[in-house]
Amino acid sequence: MIQVLDKKFEVFITKEELSREVASLGQILNEDYKGEEVIFIAVLNGSFMFASDLMKEIDLISEISFIKMSSYQGTESTGRVDELIGLKNDLKDKHVVIIEDIIDSGITIDKINSLLQMESPKSIKTCTLLYKPEAFKGQHKPHYIGFSIPNAFVVGYGLDYDEKGRNLDAIYQIKEENKTGFQLNMNNNTDQMLNIVLFGPPGAGKGTQSTKLMEQYGLVHLSTGDIFRANIKGETELGILAKSYIDKGQLVPDEVTIDLLKSEVLKHENPKGFIFDGFPRTNKQADALDAFLKEIGTGISQMISLDVEEEELKTRLANRAKDSGRIDDADPEVIQKRINVYRSETAPVKEYYADQNKWMKINGLGTVEEITSRLFEAVASL
Ligand code: IMP
Ligand code: MG
Repeated sequence: MIQVLDKKFEVFITKEELSREVASLGQILNEDYKGEEVIFIAVLNGSFMFASDLMKEIDLISEISFIKMSSYQGTESTGRVDELIGLKNDLKDKHVVIIEDIIDSGITIDKINSLLQMESPKSIKTCTLLYKPEAFKGQHKPHYIGFSIPNAFVVGYGLDYDEKGRNLDAIYQIKEENKTGFQLNMNNNTDQMLNIVLFGPPGAGKGTQSTKLMEQYGLVHLSTGDIFRANIKGETELGILAKSYIDKGQLVPDEVTIDLLKSEVLKHENPKGFIFDGFPRTNKQADALDAFLKEIGTGISQMISLDVEEEELKTRLANRAKDSGRIDDADPEVIQKRINVYRSETAPVKEYYADQNKWMKINGLGTVEEITSRLFEAVASL
């Protein structure tokens, strides 16, 4: 979360998401205008960063011009007059692509369109990084859109709040105070947190390795399983509910787990980051976690899977049962059920992060120390 003047903002589109989208817009333009000459017209001030990054992707024969819209009081009969400042290029019979940072009500883009039309170009299209469809009332809908966004104020990557915030390298959205209903204690650079999902089937060694990561990197270890077990022991309402599922090898319902996790995350003041152990276990939980972390200005850095084969898992769980006293470790039927649930519901979560390029696996066989050193190496490479 960041502060610009009197307002709080939270990350809305990360710089990675921006650069991916800008690259893809560039490729689409290259394709659409293949063999054609294009004059790009960037509308200052807001579009300077977008225009600069977009142009690096363009491999067409092209020119770029930077314009500003100006509106001044003319004579009484003409009323307010709109003028384009800075246009030097001859647009006659040329393809024009307007580069905008954001299209909101559409008033600006409509005015620019009618002024450019007077120069008799062959075509005019608009490429905008951001578009607010709910606010748009204009005539000229953008042709190329980076992100369609809700009707909320954003800053960064060229866009300003009262001239401030243009230098930010991500897009931030104004924060609706207490949107979550939770109290936030995080005033640190939440976008620099190291948040790791430690993943793997029951018995893979997530708990053991989490402790190592926690010590090495000063992270907070959040194990939904441990929290549930503490609640079961304390016979809380949550514990009684959770027990009915856990004893059978089933997952506690997503709603319960998600709310629990959020309140646990928010208990920590200025954390360096979190190790999520045993969460998210379903795609629905992964979605909820992503949305929640985004709300507090951070995100998952990486999911790391501990790779262990099934026979080894069963042996480890049976051994663990002897000293952990965990009912769900002792009964082979419950163990099998947990492994099955893992395969059908939990394993797909890996794809969820792999799709975001945030997944890696490490060999989970060997001594605790061997696995730890592979894990540290993996984290160091992030
Ligand atoms: P229009 O309403 O489409 O004419 O947009 C006009 C201008 O308002 C844009 O070019 C921006 O300079 C500014 N603007 C609209 N929405 C935002 C926002 O969320 N953040 C920052 N500037 C905005
Ligand atoms: Mg603008």
